[in-house]
Amino acid sequence: MDYSGELEQALETIFAFVPTLVLKSAILLNIPDIIAKAGANASLSLDEIASELPTKSPNLHYLSRILTYLSIKGIFFQTQMSDNPSDIRYGLTDSAKRFYVRENNPGNLVPLLLMQAHPVLMASWHHLHECVLQDCHAFEKAHGKDLWAYGKDDPLVSSVVNDSMSTLTVLGMEQIVSCYDGFKDVKTLVDVGGGKGTALAHIVKVYPHIHGINFDLAHLVQTAPSIPGIENVGGSMFDSIPSADAIFFKNVLIDWDEEKCEQILGNCHKALPENGRVIVAENITTEEARPNKSIEIVADLVMITLANGGKERSEQEWKRLLQKSGFSVIKIVGLPGLFSKLKIIEAIKV
Ligand SMILES: C[S@@+](CC[C@H](N)C(=O)[O-])C[C@H]1O[C@@H](n2cnc3c(N)ncnc32)[C@H](O)[C@@H]1O
Repeated sequence: MDYSGELEQALETIFAFVPTLVLKSAILLNIPDIIAKAGANASLSLDEIASELPTKSPNLHYLSRILTYLSIKGIFFQTQMSDNPSDIRYGLTDSAKRFYVRENNPGNLVPLLLMQAHPVLMASWHHLHECVLQDCHAFEKAHGKDLWAYGKDDPLVSSVVNDSMSTLTVLGMEQIVSCYDGFKDVKTLVDVGGGKGTALAHIVKVYPHIHGINFDLAHLVQTAPSIPGIENVGGSMFDSIPSADAIFFKNVLIDWDEEKCEQILGNCHKALPENGRVIVAENITTEEARPNKSIEIVADLVMITLANGGKERSEQEWKRLLQKSGFSVIKIVGLPGLFSKLKIIEAIKV
């Protein structure tokens, strides 16, 4: 019997962490940016790349092994320049476009990689089995407190997480403001858990009449940039939420269990006038669209390892949760393409 196929597959699975961490090392060495700086479609020799590293004596053997691996993985391409096997130049493939930051490369995923491959966040994965056995939260098991409390004491981790969220928000918000027009009548909009104010920045750009309030934990809004039309307010959504005629959430309620969500939505109820609205941008799971791509189930597992008992919810679960908190769902708007699971749920205070 030939076991080579399944053996290779088993070994690939065992070493599935390698691409992430080798790519992280290439990014920390700034290699995609070094090549991008040389121009579109440029390729550089090993010596040319090495000459840009912040050391006078780089180990070229290690460097070439990293570059060879990432070429096999399709991040770099290699061109053999002569019969001499070491006469190779390295360029960036289309996939590498997500991994350099040069000239504010829009849509780059460097912050997402640096967050997910950060040792503090990776530590949670070592506790995934304990979540099953002890019904606990993996991040808290690893560090004794949740991700947001941890960020208060470790500003570097806080900024890695915040930058990563902001990167994904830039991608999602372009679609949200083009597919959903429910912001047009809003005068004051609070973005609860708004991080760096990235989502609100997109909204007030399209609707400049809106007074935006970016509400997040105090230590976090202290580092948020100052954006015209947006006021940064620090506090906890479990205590109270600033008053407004509409309250927006993006990727916040997904972090919390039912009880905590009811507490947050209860505070929204108090902060809103009669007929005030909550506008929630979150993934909605459906029976028909059970995760069939590994990336979809990966996103859900990331929630187990990083969040406080949060999860993706179905339309029924969202309706039930909002209704229990004194809101009635009036509209659900879908987005096309990559963000098709992300929906805008609009609910009115009853
Ligand atoms: C997953 S991030 C989402 C950030 C942003 N909405 C986005 O989509 O880019 C969750 C946010 O909730 C904030 N958060 C956590 N606990 C909070 C609390 N008690 N009060 C207010 N914000 C909180 C975090 O600081 C973080 O910015």
